[in-house]
Amino acid sequence: MPSYSPVGSAFTPFTLEGLRLRNRIVKPATFEGMCPGGLVSDALVAHHREVAAGGTALTTVAYASISPDGRSYPTQILVRPEAAPGLSRLADAVHREGAAVALQIGHCGDFANPRVIGGRPMGASRRFSTYGLSFVRPATEEDLARVVADFARAARIARDAGIDAVELHFGHGYLVSQFLSPFTNRRTDRWGGSLENRSRLAVEVLRATRTAVGPGFPLLAKVNLRDGFAGGLELDESVEVARRLEAEGASALVLSCGFVSRTPLHMLRGEVPVRRMAANQERWHARIGLTLFGTLLVPAVPYTEGFLLEEGKAVRAAVRLPLVLLGGLKSMATVDRALGAGFELVGMGRALLHDPSLPRRMERGEVDGSACVPCNECIAEMDRGGVRCTRRDGR
Ligand SMILES: Cc1cc2nc3c(=O)[nH]c(=O)nc-3n(C[C@H](O)[C@H](O)[C@H](O)COP(=O)(O)O)c2cc1C
Ligand code: SF4
Repeated sequence: MPSYSPVGSAFTPFTLEGLRLRNRIVKPATFEGMCPGGLVSDALVAHHREVAAGGTALTTVAYASISPDGRSYPTQILVRPEAAPGLSRLADAVHREGAAVALQIGHCGDFANPRVIGGRPMGASRRFSTYGLSFVRPATEEDLARVVADFARAARIARDAGIDAVELHFGHGYLVSQFLSPFTNRRTDRWGGSLENRSRLAVEVLRATRTAVGPGFPLLAKVNLRDGFAGGLELDESVEVARRLEAEGASALVLSCGFVSRTPLHMLRGEVPVRRMAANQERWHARIGLTLFGTLLVPAVPYTEGFLLEEGKAVRAAVRLPLVLLGGLKSMATVDRALGAGFELVGMGRALLHDPSLPRRMERGEVDGSACVPCNECIAEMDRGGVRCTRRDGR
């Protein structure tokens, strides 16, 4: 059972299920878009090596798919034995800089890209996916047994390759989150209806994965505090989900929000990068449509520093396992507020894209925060050869 550790300052070490972290700062998953062929590239290794060299304790490799049908990009890691040597190389590079590395694994379910997976996406229930422009087929019992086994197998490949921790993606409207959410899960079998049924997939995935990696290996789960729209998962249910995941042996939870196929900016807040998103469209009519209607299709949500702090406190009060708080953490003051509120670890996503050396510079007292705006243009860059901050030189 994970034990609760008292919080300290951002630059004190922390032990997560036996893994020593040099401080409290985590780089959460920010999809890199750097893995053509589903394999680790030199660019991905360099990206995480730079984050590690900047002082972060744990860097998270984003959005690796547990199976071919769980992908939305051709440039994401597909976890299979051929991917293991690249993962080992990446882990070695991060370790040499004194940091640890986690691999986020998931299945994107109903918003899988039909062109990438070569078929119809699978989800909790039948619906039309405006994201992939295709009808979603409801997952069968056999599909779900395969998903559970694929999560476990992928985690084991990561562990054996020398990756220090695995993060199960249970949030953001990915497959497991599509089962948790009453909006996308309309099933009437043992996988739908009550919260117990809707959380069955999360629980079974965690259980099988824990069995596959054994005790003493850090298994984090990224979960939604809220989906961010009427009819989605709400805080009272997500608190209950957190309790179940703690009881099933999660090492820590990463608290987030939002639903990629409905409220993509909810998890980020800030500006909608319409111009850059439109430039990425292959077809001219999509480019014009997005330019004209982008802010209607992707509504902006106001950004405040530490935007999940208050909702996160409800989970903090309900569980004892370590929690990673993220969401607009970009200054020493907000990091201290989060640690002071009882969160053991903090996630800094865009702040570290903007300046990977931020932890070192903050520790030395050179800066007290990041100059990330947030314009969210880095989101559009994922489709343009690899994630990067478009304003990095202005740090
Ligand atoms: C460019 C970009 C890509 C992202 N990709 C992922 C992802 O692959 N998986 C994930 O769980 N979250 C992803 N996120 C969300 C971040 O992990 C984090 O939850 C969010 O950015 C809020 O934290 P921040 O305010 O510190 O940036 C992404 C965010 C950004 C900016
Ligand atoms: S592009 Fe740079 S400044 Fe803009 S949100 Fe992303 S990290 Fe921040």
